[in-house]
Amino acid sequence: MQATPELKRPQPPIPGFRIGGVLVDPPILLAPMEDVTNPPFRLLCKQIGGVGMVFTEFVSAVALHYGARKSARKMAILDAERPAAIQIFGSDPSTMADAARMAVDLGADVVDINMGCWVPKVCRTGSGAALLRDPEQAVAVARAVLRAVDVPVSVKVRAGYEQGRFAAPELARAFEAEGVAMITIHARFATQGFDGTADWDLIRRLRDAVSIPLVGNGDVRIGEDALRMFHETGCDGVMVGRAAISNPWALAAIVARVSDQPEPEPPTLEERVRTALRHVRMMIRYEAGAPYDDPDGPIPDDAAAEQRAVRHLRGQLPLYVKGFPGAAAVRKRLSECSTYAEVRGVLGSLAESAFP
Ligand SMILES: Cc1cc2nc3c(=O)[nH]c(=O)nc-3n(C[C@H](O)[C@H](O)[C@H](O)COP(=O)(O)O)c2cc1C
Repeated sequence: MQATPELKRPQPPIPGFRIGGVLVDPPILLAPMEDVTNPPFRLLCKQIGGVGMVFTEFVSAVALHYGARKSARKMAILDAERPAAIQIFGSDPSTMADAARMAVDLGADVVDINMGCWVPKVCRTGSGAALLRDPEQAVAVARAVLRAVDVPVSVKVRAGYEQGRFAAPELARAFEAEGVAMITIHARFATQGFDGTADWDLIRRLRDAVSIPLVGNGDVRIGEDALRMFHETGCDGVMVGRAAISNPWALAAIVARVSDQPEPEPPTLEERVRTALRHVRMMIRYEAGAPYDDPDGPIPDDAAAEQRAVRHLRGQLPLYVKGFPGAAAVRKRLSECSTYAEVRGVLGSLAESAFP
């Protein structure tokens, strides 16, 4: 067996890279996350975290085909968050081509195809990670999307479907031959869900298989993790998911480390509370169909939108203050909130008690 040549240890600053003509700099990407990377949160990750690229939540091509307004709204992109990839999922090439065209009409800089989602409701329809078991269909989907749009197309995969069956290299080679411009790999198998730890050696092995840009993903939480992933795998970019939920400052710290900038001061509790409240206000405006980019804009008089926004975020709000004194106690109270005033009351009391 041939020994793998030692990778040269990359020294920060790690340079950006291009997906086709789209520059990703710094090479840190916000992962697509259903119910999390909604437009207001992506904007916070761009403004506070300074990431090089953001991804939308995955959007169902079938839902778009049937005119689902909620799905189309997930694709709203503001100039301030660019470059942005819209991620679509589905198994039918023609429906996926239509979804990709819609994504480009709505301003996608890159169209990303989801081939990594492992949840049964998605895989049952032959979409997401199910495509890893059906290379012919996977390539047909990628080809249809590539033919439909003139922006770069990327694919996000897992290592394979069944644990131990490393399907990604063969597929990625086929995608590269079709013209796919970037591959992201979450270094777990679909049947693992989120179990165990991501196996970064799979990223390194995929690196050997393709020469288009490769983004590594899985279990990166701090700047040192990102640097280690660059070093151990030879990837061009690092994608961060769970560590960023309700914590765009984690992204800022990672970006600083790979850019060779001083580590930013961690946010104070007050800053966390202010940002959480800003997130809720932006989300209410987004739900009400109003411009949501101004953090100090007025809260629209739309009780239904307010309730939807608060309910949507109440699972994520406690994470903004996790680890601070009193955080555990507010968790339950936040889970019962339905209005902005209630959230403000609960979070405000926490900041006051921590800073008398
Ligand atoms: C709440 C949640 C929602 C997710 N939704 C998506 C999605 O819509 N599309 C996708 O490709 N991956 C999705 N993922 C997977 C992430 O993009 C990422 O691959 C995974 O979390 C591993 O990265 P991490 O260890 O940095 O979290 C989701 C993950 C989480 C935790």
